[in-house]
Amino acid sequence: MKTPPEVREAFGLAKKVRQKAHAPYSKFKVGAALIGKSGKIYQGCNIENASYGGGVCAERVAILKAVSEGETEFTDIVVVTDAKDPAFPCALCLQVMAEFFESDTTIWVADTKKICSENTFLALLPKPFGPKQLNEAKK
Ligand code: THU
Repeated sequence: MKTPPEVREAFGLAKKVRQKAHAPYSKFKVGAALIGKSGKIYQGCNIENASYGGGVCAERVAILKAVSEGETEFTDIVVVTDAKDPAFPCALCLQVMAEFFESDTTIWVADTKKICSENTFLALLPKPFGPKQLNEAKK
């Protein structure tokens, strides 16, 4: 697997931001680093809440930070956990990605030691729900 230098940089940042995860309930820490087409890297960690449904995943934190700063187009995201089988983004995060990612936006899944897998967004969510479905609805 060939990892471009900006992806290796994002991996380092995702590992670092993972340490900031607020995960007192699950104890499962996640770090994400999202590479914008501008070259800027946005970091996110999971932030849980005593009212469990209020928790937000690392990937969504990174995406929401980026969009709120005016960047909406991305090339890659690196997600780091310490799961034995490295964890892929959850379905809710994939749906949020569907709003901004392109078919070939790359999702790199890593553990704390190495990047383990390279995936296109299309491979992880082949049939996303999007504006097309809304526009095609029978009125
Ligand atoms: N989590 C993420 O941050 N990203 C995912 O894609 C899956 C799960 C977080 C949510 C929660 O804080 C913890 O991991 C356990 O589910």
